[in-house]
Amino acid sequence: MMSLSVVILAAGQGKRMVSRLPKVLHRVGGTTLIDRVITTARRLKPATICVVYGHGGERVRQSIGAPDVEFVRQAPQLGTGDALRRALPMIGESDVTLVLYGDVPLVRAETLAPMVAGKIERVMVLTAMLDDPSGYGRVVRDRRGRIKRIIEDADATPVQRRIREINTGIMALPTKRLASWLGRLETRNAQGEYYLTDALAQAGADGVPVEADTAADPAEVLGVNSRDHLAQLERTYQRRYAQNLLERGVSLADPARIDVRGELECGDDVAIDINCVFLGAVSLGADVSIGPNCVLKNVAVGDRTVVEPYTLIEDSVIGADCRIGPYARIRPGARLARDVHIGNFVEVKNSAIGEHSKANHLAYIGDAAVGARVNIGAGTITCNYDGANKHRTVIEDDVQIGSDVQLVAPVTVGKGATVGAGTTVWKRAPAGALTINEKTQVTRPGWKRPTKKQR
Ligand code: UD1
Ligand code: CA
Repeated sequence: MMSLSVVILAAGQGKRMVSRLPKVLHRVGGTTLIDRVITTARRLKPATICVVYGHGGERVRQSIGAPDVEFVRQAPQLGTGDALRRALPMIGESDVTLVLYGDVPLVRAETLAPMVAGKIERVMVLTAMLDDPSGYGRVVRDRRGRIKRIIEDADATPVQRRIREINTGIMALPTKRLASWLGRLETRNAQGEYYLTDALAQAGADGVPVEADTAADPAEVLGVNSRDHLAQLERTYQRRYAQNLLERGVSLADPARIDVRGELECGDDVAIDINCVFLGAVSLGADVSIGPNCVLKNVAVGDRTVVEPYTLIEDSVIGADCRIGPYARIRPGARLARDVHIGNFVEVKNSAIGEHSKANHLAYIGDAAVGARVNIGAGTITCNYDGANKHRTVIEDDVQIGSDVQLVAPVTVGKGATVGAGTTVWKRAPAGALTINEKTQVTRPGWKRPTKKQR
């Protein structure tokens, strides 16, 4: 079997990003550019993946931190040919070397696979047809259509500049030839760099055929050089993701107004309204409906649950048949059982809530264990923090809590208890009983409301 090495060039400075962050650590769809390329590379089952990183690229190395990735530092950056030469000690044993760019994140494994299958003794270049090819290396072919060379934009004649077929930079080469080809590169060109593309002429001289595959979708091979490019690629990525959701049977009110920065798994007949953002790993059960302007991060939502508009849910598990929002905030560690209702301006954090329980308005439930069939009135809060430590509140099954109740944790409300409106619960509220704070209501007849002094 043929063995493959993938070399990912990522030493470039990325000056045009105007960023303190190395270019390949910027993100598309929530994942760094370099991680996307590495994930795609892995799908080709290479023997080696080698990342060529540059100046101040220690952060790149740290960010990747994958045991199956080798790193080579290239400083100074003397061109793509020099970058690949640096990687040679890592890839010497393989048959074919595939060169990818760390800043070309959307290329698909399906596009790359044919480039590295078949003959070893050939150079395979991935090209694309662009309406505006300016800035790219152009593919120069002879009369019979065979590739002669790639000429960089800066070195091209006006006639060559009109060629619309460009070098994406992605190419596969026979590894055993690289030392000789790269060793003979020169810097006599407009940029004074070692051009990897010049290796094509060497291949020709050695009788190794140079072939090309043309990317069907040029968007797939676009690189990121500026924030503008990054924003465009983000839209391309999101549009592609939305299309895939539609094909899998998800209803999107507007495929141009959804953002998935991670992975979104959907059961049958899920409906998602506009402007929702999904972060990390989100799974939605069958018949789930998500209202407009919701943000869900690392959440599993059970079947038939309805998430109303403007709801935020993070690091939580939501059961089936729940009704959440509008304007609900579910913070990390919430575990909602089946048929739980969390209404407007209710915040839940690190709490389990049992079946059929409801907190419909203006409440805070933090560090609590709430049983089944519990009703929590408007304005009720768990006072879980004493200024130094967090404490737990336990509310057992079938409890009825009136409006504006403070539960001063640690505290337990026993099964079937009722807590009257406006009660501050400092100690255990016994099961089955009514707990209230005694207050009196007085009325002062003849009392006059103050009036503004006349000046
Ligand atoms: C390169 C190609 C050009 C192609 C274009 C596609 C060469 C000589 N030119 O041009 O034909 O159309 O990409 O985008 O290959 N890099 C290093 N070390 C270096 C220089 C670059 O690691 O010394 C890396 C960069 O980080 C980047 C990639 O190689 O990932 C391409 O570098 P870039 O400077 O963008 O190449 P271009 O001049 O655009
Ligand atoms: Ca480039």
